Amino acid sequence: MDVETPRQKWDRIYRGWKAPFPGAATVLSENEHLLPAGGKALDLACGLGGNAVFLARRGFEVDAIDISEAGIEALTDTACVEGLSINARVADVMERHWAAERYDVIVVARFLERTLARDIADALEPGGLLFYQTFVETKTSGSGPGNPRFLLRDNELIRLFDGLLIRYYRDEALTGKPDAGQRDEAFLIAQRPDS
Ligand SMILES: C[S@@+](CC[C@H](N)C(=O)[O-])C[C@H]1O[C@@H](n2cnc3c(N)ncnc32)[C@H](O)[C@@H]1O
Repeated sequence: MDVETPRQKWDRIYRGWKAPFPGAATVLSENEHLLPAGGKALDLACGLGGNAVFLARRGFEVDAIDISEAGIEALTDTACVEGLSINARVADVMERHWAAERYDVIVVARFLERTLARDIADALEPGGLLFYQTFVETKTSGSGPGNPRFLLRDNELIRLFDGLLIRYYRDEALTGKPDAGQRDEAFLIAQRPDS
């Protein structure tokens, strides 16, 4: 049997999607007060685009990119119905076409490709903000990927974006009572210095 490509896998998941349309990632929704008043935003590996929709509803002009045609189709429909300013397109983020642009806000949720870190940081405008949230290797549940390649190590997001100013970081790992708190993922908000 042929092994599914990531695109085939996510197309299958999004075409069979029965759950409600996803909202924004916690790192964004719980820290909305840090957002600038408006500007250009990028939702990288957007999936169904919960972050893109959240930002467009708040007046941002949003680029949303994903390799899954099904995800982008669903997002385009939502944007159309609500009349939102979202430029949603199917692309492999590894081809880095997005890296030629500059953004006031970049969101990456539940996607990890370490070799993109430099390009993501460079794609921020001076003062621009990166909201990043993804799974850690010290997960307490079965949620998220099993392959360790897609799981963050302790402090890894901080190291990956060490040229940026860290405004917020949270990774509770296995400390204390693992059934309480905010587990399984690390959360980073980082800002490009003004000069
Ligand atoms: C776990 S989902 C997260 C989706 C979304 N960011 C969210 O939090 O709801 C991972 C996403 O990465 C996308 N993806 C995987 N590899 C990609 C690539 N090379 N280029 C663009 N998107 C990719 C998948 O299609 C999928 O939508």
